[in-house]
Amino acid sequence: MLSVGKSISGRLRGHMVGYHRSVLLEEAIKALHVKKGEWYLDCTLGDGGHTLEILKQGGKVIGMDVDPQALKRAKERLCDLGYFEDQGLRLVQGNFRDLENIISQTESGDQKFASVKSNLAGAIFDLGVSSLQLESPERGFSFGMMGPLDMRMDPTLAVRALDLLNSLSRKELYEIFNQLGEEKYSWRLANALVLAREVKPFTNTLELSKAVEKVVGGKREKIHPATRVFQALRMTVNDELGALKEGLDKVRNEIKKDGYIVVISFHSLEDRIVKNTFREWQFAGFGEVLTKKPIVPTEKEVVDNPRSRSAKMRVFKRS
Ligand SMILES: C[S@@+](CC[C@H](N)C(=O)[O-])C[C@H]1O[C@@H](n2cnc3c(N)ncnc32)[C@H](O)[C@@H]1O
Repeated sequence: MLSVGKSISGRLRGHMVGYHRSVLLEEAIKALHVKKGEWYLDCTLGDGGHTLEILKQGGKVIGMDVDPQALKRAKERLCDLGYFEDQGLRLVQGNFRDLENIISQTESGDQKFASVKSNLAGAIFDLGVSSLQLESPERGFSFGMMGPLDMRMDPTLAVRALDLLNSLSRKELYEIFNQLGEEKYSWRLANALVLAREVKPFTNTLELSKAVEKVVGGKREKIHPATRVFQALRMTVNDELGALKEGLDKVRNEIKKDGYIVVISFHSLEDRIVKNTFREWQFAGFGEVLTKKPIVPTEKEVVDNPRSRSAKMRVFKRS
């Protein structure tokens, strides 16, 4: 699996491209207890940061991501570092809510992977969006860069952020801003955005950021005023909480005895789903919750990588 060295194009690419900074990397890898030759699921491949560490420690990985661009970039990065798709690495596009089908396809499509199904020693979920997605204006995730109000991680989804924003009722907008954005001006915002779209429907990111700023003022706290509204729309477009519930339901049966399931979340509702699911599993005798309290980034990590500030990691051990 290891190549002689990093190619020249790879070295150049490494300089030009700022890869996603994996959150809680050391802690997550330690929690997975990576063993040589064992298979692991990286359910949110992103730029492949967690996958890379598992491979470095001799583990084998099925890496999945719902975003084809993420998959392409991770593949290039891993190839540049000498990790190719072979017996020890498989990269697949797909939503982790379908993970049992993805694993079955991996096996049935190729003899080399015939032994994966009953041999998965661990799984990791590192939820949310990657730097690649946030920093690509054309994807529409960023409130600070001009782009279409899209926000689909999976480009085949039918509904974009602008479709929601221009068609949901005032009450529905209020509810998603309030619940998923935890936005205290949700009602005011829902009202203002509905009035604004009657004059001209929303099409781009900056129109929305400016409309939000007009309602809640300029900078507040440490975050941009439109952060919470963007987060709420993104989570709705990609049905992030629904996918998490289904993904967790499915992953439990895929991981063998003494294997570990590690989840890093960035939103209180996600963390609550993880916490409650793990508790229910423990109660039903499927294994043990190893994190009574979630593991959070060190102060140093938060300073080095402010995006890690809301991360919470929980770990479950199968029995
Ligand atoms: C925070 S990034 C992962 C970063 C990665 N761990 C790394 O170190 O480079 C999250 C990734 O998960 C993907 N993702 C989010 N929800 C997903 C889902 N339901 N199924 C599959 N991939 C998903 C996103 O497209 C994104 O690329």
